[in-house]
Amino acid sequence: MRYLTFALGKGRLAKQTLAIFEKIGITCQEMKDKDTRKLIFVNEELKLKFFLAKGPDVPTYVEYGAADIGVVGKDTILEEARNIYEVLDLGFGRCRMCVCGPKEAQKLLQHRELIRVATKYPRIAKDYFYNKKHQTVEIIKLNGSIELAPIVGLSEVIVDIVETGSTLRENGLGVLEEVCPLSARMVVNQVSMKMEYDRISRLIRDLKEVLERNCKEEVS
Ligand code: PRP
Repeated sequence: MRYLTFALGKGRLAKQTLAIFEKIGITCQEMKDKDTRKLIFVNEELKLKFFLAKGPDVPTYVEYGAADIGVVGKDTILEEARNIYEVLDLGFGRCRMCVCGPKEAQKLLQHRELIRVATKYPRIAKDYFYNKKHQTVEIIKLNGSIELAPIVGLSEVIVDIVETGSTLRENGLGVLEEVCPLSARMVVNQVSMKMEYDRISRLIRDLKEVLERNCKEEVS
């Protein structure tokens, strides 16, 4: 049996992924050691390998087959637009991609004015404004602290992730429009899906069962 390799987006997503994997009997003890400088972690018994990567690199590893499976946010999947299969919504890391700004910017959106849009997600922003809203805008790519842009006058609005909304509130901004909901997704290399169909579909089925059980527990 060959190894199945997983690329996990670093940080909170990876922790939640490992927690859900544990529920279906997939563990990786090595990965829990906080002081380790190792990059690859192996579960010899189940013939699995795991590595942590920067979120935006996960779809790249999966498209090229360096990882068979990846776990990454829907935002990254949309922005990277790689040739990979998105097979499962893992349900955690829920948030929204939104157009945000000061209240006054609402009318600029309504009147489809030529405005500046700052974002870490130029592809998502472009698709939303050009293809969905048919509004011509100037997109400015930033790498973080996007909320600064309308405050310091770099742009009229931003396209960014909103989770609790507290960053917006504390900076006098708000959600003006919703682009799409987001959450963690499992992605699979297209060749691996065929070559390792049984193992991968069993994994998806087991994860689905856990997710459904979690859902029922939340409701009751
Ligand atoms: C993200 C996002 C918002 C914030 C939203 O930023 O870009 O700034 O979280 O969360 P909230 O609605 O709960 O306040 P992140 O912390 O990832 O850092 P960044 O600004 O460097 O992108």
